[in-house]
Amino acid sequence: MEQNKEDRMNQIFRRAVLLVCAAASAVCLGGCSHKEEEWEKKITEETVYVDGLEGEYTFLFLTDSHVVIQDKNASQQEQEFADQRYAMFYNEEGVAAKDQFPAWVRYANEMEVDAVLLGGDIIDSPSDANVEWLRGQLAKLKMPYLYVPGNHDWTYPWDYMTDYGKETYLSKLSDMMQGHAPLQSLAVGELLLVGVDDSSNQVNPDAISGYEDLLRQGKPVIVMTHVPFATDTLSAKAALEWENPTVIGEDQEAGIWPNDTSCFFRELTTARDTPVKLLLSGHVHLYDDSVINGETSVRQIVGDGGYEGCALLLHVKGR
Ligand SMILES: [Fe+2]
Repeated sequence: MEQNKEDRMNQIFRRAVLLVCAAASAVCLGGCSHKEEEWEKKITEETVYVDGLEGEYTFLFLTDSHVVIQDKNASQQEQEFADQRYAMFYNEEGVAAKDQFPAWVRYANEMEVDAVLLGGDIIDSPSDANVEWLRGQLAKLKMPYLYVPGNHDWTYPWDYMTDYGKETYLSKLSDMMQGHAPLQSLAVGELLLVGVDDSSNQVNPDAISGYEDLLRQGKPVIVMTHVPFATDTLSAKAALEWENPTVIGEDQEAGIWPNDTSCFFRELTTARDTPVKLLLSGHVHLYDDSVINGETSVRQIVGDGGYEGCALLLHVKGR
């Protein structure tokens, strides 16, 4: 009941904010081209230094936007779920995730970043409306993107990670995931960006042999997953924020005990001669910058929830 009351209060607040925004848009007609721009982007900038790199590269990393597009043609079950979730994902100014994302597309184009990196949970469910909307947004990018699946991109709570769900829903995103969601890659100048699916809380076994091949290419590598790996700081932070296990690691606080595949992925990533310079991930909706320990300590940056207006501008340069 308390939750219902809170939801109602949220809805009232949101309506009030939307009315104010609508009024502001009306005033801006002719002057302001995008009402979505009337909110403050929270951009964190980080730099990764790579020995011997000649060029400089910039990437926009966005994760966990949880965009919901409401659709009156969807089933009643989908509509009710969308209504409930729509009310959860907006920034502190009351701007819904779907009204923020287009501004990030324009930002990426204006900044001429080298690529856009999408860490999963970009849409909150694989509804037709969400998928078509995202496809349209990504088509507006003037640079390549890499999009790893998050657990929400391809699941509904009533069909959570079932074989049917994987076949039916993950495949709807296939064209945005290079036709092979388990493992994707993107060469950008001297760098190799690699997307690995761990959206089911373990690294997808279909990623492993290809991942080994990519690491052997001899290029500096940036890896992106959805679910992060435990580090000295992340597990405790995530455990404070979430009641459920959210991080892959052997400690109690991390909660998701790695299986053999995930352990092997971590071994490869942190091997003595690893070319991996950085791991990017999301999932926990909180920012963390720390290292995954192994034969080599590899930096892992976890992005804040995109629906809160947050993104990471990542610079990669020589030392
Ligand atoms: Fe998320």
